[in-house]
Amino acid sequence: MKEQLEKIYSNAANDISKAASINDLEQIKAKYLSRKGEFNEIKKNLKNLSNEDKRIIGSLANEITEKLEASIKEKHDVFYQAELNKKLQQERIDVTLPGKFIPRGKVHPITSTTNEIVAIFQSLGFSVVESDKSPEVETEYFNFDMLNIPKDHPARDVQDTFYTTIAQNVVLRSQTSGAQIHVMEEQKPPIRVISPGRVYRNENINARKNNFFHQIEGLYVDKNITFGDLKGVLNEFIRIYFGSSRPTRFRSSFFPFTEPSAEVDVQCIMCGGKGCKTCSGTGWLEILGAGMVDPNVLNGVGIDPEVYSGFAFGMGIERLAMLKYAIDDIRLFFNDDLRFLKQF
Ligand code: PHE
Repeated sequence: MKEQLEKIYSNAANDISKAASINDLEQIKAKYLSRKGEFNEIKKNLKNLSNEDKRIIGSLANEITEKLEASIKEKHDVFYQAELNKKLQQERIDVTLPGKFIPRGKVHPITSTTNEIVAIFQSLGFSVVESDKSPEVETEYFNFDMLNIPKDHPARDVQDTFYTTIAQNVVLRSQTSGAQIHVMEEQKPPIRVISPGRVYRNENINARKNNFFHQIEGLYVDKNITFGDLKGVLNEFIRIYFGSSRPTRFRSSFFPFTEPSAEVDVQCIMCGGKGCKTCSGTGWLEILGAGMVDPNVLNGVGIDPEVYSGFAFGMGIERLAMLKYAIDDIRLFFNDDLRFLKQF
């Protein structure tokens, strides 16, 4: 029996030394050490031996079992460590590899310019009229009539304004000035608001004109408002928006809804005032129209022009963006060219 045990041991030891994987070791374990393994078969016969032999053979069997278990475990640990190292090697992160590029959307330059202008006027005490208070699809009443624009004024012509098929008097607004009427019909002075939005004009499209663009309307009505206030607010806006270095000029003008009226020009950024294609050779680019609110307009909305006065202005957002970023073609804002848009 002792020889039998030693034979099994040397076979098992031989198998273990040849094992090449954890899987091999599992099989060896099953073959020799499991309940149905070769050692157990021998242990079953122990009962036929004398007490003395039982002790000797029994302890030899236990000794051998322990030895085999120990050498299996030792080899198992070596395989396990090797596999683990291999796995860690495969899963290693190379921190020097370039990162993944995640494309990011950007705010359109017209939106960011609008936000910038709005923030400046807010810092000067103006509040923003909600866009739904002054719609793009507008009646002639707000776009023209209440702004003191006569029935035969050329701006009303289909050559200039887009009429809709909704009703005879419904237009795509040609200016944000209708917002003045919306606000003054709902609110009594003091009024100090701005209203940004899109406007439409029946233009031939070229580098300077598009058939839609964006404006910001401003309105300030209170007691004792003068042309000096108008100049003060607009000069302060221009100083903040362009920085003090950019030359500007006020030029007298005419609008049916303001009296007196003015236009503000900024020196052409393309030619520095020498005169070029962008500024039609004048050296100046108009950025806004403005003036003291006409008494007829105030009367129309039930504000007494003997008690109150005010000023209004309307500026072109594209023009302001073009001047700041030296963009020489208005169409660039609207043809979705990523090479252009990515620069902002
Ligand atoms: N609405 C005028 C335009 O479209 C600008 C303007 C606004 C002029 C307010 C005076 C007062 O050109």
